[in-house]
Amino acid sequence: MADESAPVEPRDLTLEQKASLTSGADFWHLQDVAEAGIPGAMVADGPHGLRKQPATADPIGIGSSLPATCFPPAVALASSWDPDLVHRVGQALGREARAEQVSVLLGPGVNIKRSPLCGRNFEYFSEDPFLAGRIGAAFVRGVQSQGVGASLKHFAANNQETDRFRVSADVDERTLREIYLPAFEYVVKNAHPYTVMSAYNKLNGTYTSEHRWLLTEVLREEWGFDGLVVSDWGAVNDRVLSLAAGLDVEMPPSGRDHLVVEAVRDGRLDESLLDAAVRRVLALLEATEDVRTGRHPAPDFDAHHALAREAAACGAVLLKNDGDLLPLSASDGRRVAVIGEFARTPRFQGGGSSHVVPTRVDDALTAITAAAGAERVVFAAGFTLDGEPDQALVDEAVAAARGADVAVLLLGLPQTAESEGYDREHIDLPADQLALLEAVHAANPATVVVLSNGSVVSVAEWREHAQAVLEGWLLGQAGGAAVADILFGGAEPSGRLTETIPLRLADNPAHMFFPGGEQHVRYAEGIYLGYRYYDTGDRPVAYPFGFGLGYTRFELGGLSVEPEGDNAFAVSVEVTNTGARPGAQVVQVYVHDAESSVDRPEHELKGFAKVRLEPGESTRVTVHLDERAFAYWSLLENRWKVEPGDVEIRVGTSCRDLDLRCRARVAGNPAPGALDAMSTVAEWLQDAIGADLLLPVLAEHAAADREITPQLQKLMEGLPVNKLATFMGLPAGRLDELALARSISSRPVDC
Ligand code: BGC
Repeated sequence: MADESAPVEPRDLTLEQKASLTSGADFWHLQDVAEAGIPGAMVADGPHGLRKQPATADPIGIGSSLPATCFPPAVALASSWDPDLVHRVGQALGREARAEQVSVLLGPGVNIKRSPLCGRNFEYFSEDPFLAGRIGAAFVRGVQSQGVGASLKHFAANNQETDRFRVSADVDERTLREIYLPAFEYVVKNAHPYTVMSAYNKLNGTYTSEHRWLLTEVLREEWGFDGLVVSDWGAVNDRVLSLAAGLDVEMPPSGRDHLVVEAVRDGRLDESLLDAAVRRVLALLEATEDVRTGRHPAPDFDAHHALAREAAACGAVLLKNDGDLLPLSASDGRRVAVIGEFARTPRFQGGGSSHVVPTRVDDALTAITAAAGAERVVFAAGFTLDGEPDQALVDEAVAAARGADVAVLLLGLPQTAESEGYDREHIDLPADQLALLEAVHAANPATVVVLSNGSVVSVAEWREHAQAVLEGWLLGQAGGAAVADILFGGAEPSGRLTETIPLRLADNPAHMFFPGGEQHVRYAEGIYLGYRYYDTGDRPVAYPFGFGLGYTRFELGGLSVEPEGDNAFAVSVEVTNTGARPGAQVVQVYVHDAESSVDRPEHELKGFAKVRLEPGESTRVTVHLDERAFAYWSLLENRWKVEPGDVEIRVGTSCRDLDLRCRARVAGNPAPGALDAMSTVAEWLQDAIGADLLLPVLAEHAAADREITPQLQKLMEGLPVNKLATFMGLPAGRLDELALARSISSRPVDC
């Protein structure tokens, strides 16, 4: 008789039962096997709020889920540059999921914002993989602290919506490793998500859901992922190929489990691969058992709303504030014209599978009225949400602005402009809104623009019509209150850009290749994405990556760089709040490779820290740079390579404001045994053992033959060592011995 208390093993199950566990039971549930005592489990979207469909709802029906807190979507959450805050939001999401017995929350999305046009950019964190990884890891840790699993998505190179079910992202390996994979890698290695979700698209011609290199070699074997890989919804095209590649569960089920059974029976699929997938399903069920069976308190929705408000205020980015127009005073009696339909009909989240039914919604008009007093506030809608020009609304808004001391305009993209499922065609605000802005500004130059948009909009052609600009992104259900908090100084704006705002869409390096055609998109810009391109090519931008103003002033100084090993440093800097208000600053650390044998971006973000300081307060901030901060992906050596030589560590408050600089030397991380007779003299000399072997030979040659002038030395450095015989007359036999000696001395000691 089977021992009922022993955990179920694949060997306890029939082939059919095992196959059934590798696809869902329905749209939102994993398959149970009641006869074997295996329960099902519920999963739900994500990322910025729980989208749990009641059993009666149409499974794809957006907008029919249970009310849940709509936190700021990823675009705003990441703009906080605050992993602690993101962790707290993750915890709250976990609590809401747990209370609804949802075992896995389908998020976060850590795909890179390759083009501003991607319809799902609002669901992603950044154009920078380092930042996306740190924010993503905090999110996952927060969710999983409540026993609920996260699902890291969409793995990988899913950077557009156009043709998303078929398109092949054609990306060279260095670009993949340096730009499109590191956020996944960091989260997997540091936050251990219970699940990873494959993407719809192909990667270099193979569906990511069938991509063995991606799902098994990289994800599991290199990064050590031991969780479950689930397909994006409908991303499986071939059940057997997917399983063989390392995808464990198809969601939702396609009714093709019999193909798995047949493939095992006729030997096309190794049963051990099916067993491995089953084991991962069982492990996930075990890890989330408490979510299904425990008694969990109802979430404190008031507290979560307050957290959503705090997060929203931290994610808005103040782009412009001429003459310190902001913050407005809550008590000076000055009249405020609040203009724009978004003030009373807020746009606070994006469209598609992440769409949450909020527990409540704060609008900015109500919040501003509460802050300033009804007698000071006049409202004019200014425009309609359908974008149809309406002169009467403009006239009304102009009159309101003229009669007020300051005009606050809430502009932005209509809901239909950006969504999952399609990409944008341009990055402009609707023309009727821009005409309104111009007219309002002419009537009252004390004009503040507050933006609602999920991905960048161009600002260059209209920012002169605003004295202050607050990029509000999509701020979640408490965004309206958070905007009022910032406008009246109840909260300090501390968001920083996680993506460059270009002057023009055409400046974007991926623009020419986006979104591709004939089912292929070529990532021809390579690693030169976002600020990596703008800064390397010295191109003007509207606002750089990392930028954001506050209401107080900060000074950074006293940079110190202390070695912490051969290729690691502690970078510390003194930050002082020199202004009159409390505030937060994001200290950003970038690395510039001063001596490199391959092309590198001008600099790359490798560390950051957010600090909050009272007026006059100072603190020393330390950021640790490890070996990876200096590495590039070597295609030749198939590894993260650090070349010996000088680097410059740059510290500041955006990628264009890096006045604190310090040169340092990294020792490099030579690969054992990587040198051979075709390695160049320079490569031999960079290698400690190689240098010890080669230098005496060169010295003998110099003594015996002729002087090695600096010019000759330069020429020699590029020569493969075995060519020294041909061109420099070195004895060929000595050089052969050398290559052999290097390979012997690098063998691991095996005693
Ligand atoms: C989206 C995923 C989402 C899933 C379930 C897919 O269309 O790409 O992000 O989690 O649907 O709704």
